[in-house]
Amino acid sequence: MDVGRAEEISIGKPVHIEIDGTGIAVFKLDQAFYAIEDVCTHDGGKLTGGCIENDVIVCPRHGARFSIRTGEALSAPAYEPTATFPVRVENGMVQVRDDRWD
Ligand code: FES
Repeated sequence: MDVGRAEEISIGKPVHIEIDGTGIAVFKLDQAFYAIEDVCTHDGGKLTGGCIENDVIVCPRHGARFSIRTGEALSAPAYEPTATFPVRVENGMVQVRDDRWD
């Protein structure tokens, strides 16, 4: 699924998209793009809208921290990772796919 032109996605401003009912947050870090499920594994909060500290997103609800690169839960109250998705840039367009059910 197309997310947007690479130059239109900026560091610190993740883009939220939906693929088949799954909310996905797409981030730009340095010159690379990353996609994680836009759901906190603590209590289902949306991660977009939280603070970004380098390559970490902080859940705006209770402060759990997740790696934008790996989806790993880095601090309580979340312990389970959030899903990650493959991202590519094709002709300047950032694209994400939910490969969990392939
Ligand atoms: S819902 Fe994210 S820390 Fe609680």
